[in-house]
Amino acid sequence: MASQKWNDQYSVGIAALDQIHRKLFGAIGEIENAIAQDAPREETNQLLRLLMEASHEHFAEEEMAMRVAQYPSLQPHCENHRRLAEKLEAFIARHDLKERKMNCRSINFLRDWLLYHIQNDDARYGAWFQDRACREAAKKQAA
Ligand SMILES: [Fe+2]
Repeated sequence: MASQKWNDQYSVGIAALDQIHRKLFGAIGEIENAIAQDAPREETNQLLRLLMEASHEHFAEEEMAMRVAQYPSLQPHCENHRRLAEKLEAFIARHDLKERKMNCRSINFLRDWLLYHIQNDDARYGAWFQDRACREAAKKQAA
């Protein structure tokens, strides 16, 4: 199973978010490696729990930044975060019982889901945020 590395094309234009997204990608890559190498269940579970903690922390920070900025699509964005967190939790709950092939499929699915979210929902927020910052800078210059 080839792990997919972070690519600068995934950038949402906000360095702090890109940095965290890169870390989440790295965490998923470690899980892929653990599954591919048939690592003990406890080790894979520990990596999955770390990914879950990092995801929860990241989503909370992202949602807070969006709330403060009064981002108009906050609600659907938060719902997508919840869906990803639920899928991750379901994977953690079931993965002990599954075969390697199924585990590979599940982690690939999670990674693709995260990538889709970054390239669509987060990129939309990044563009909106940058646009808003430009408008505010222009307002200040005009004042
Ligand atoms: Fe997000």
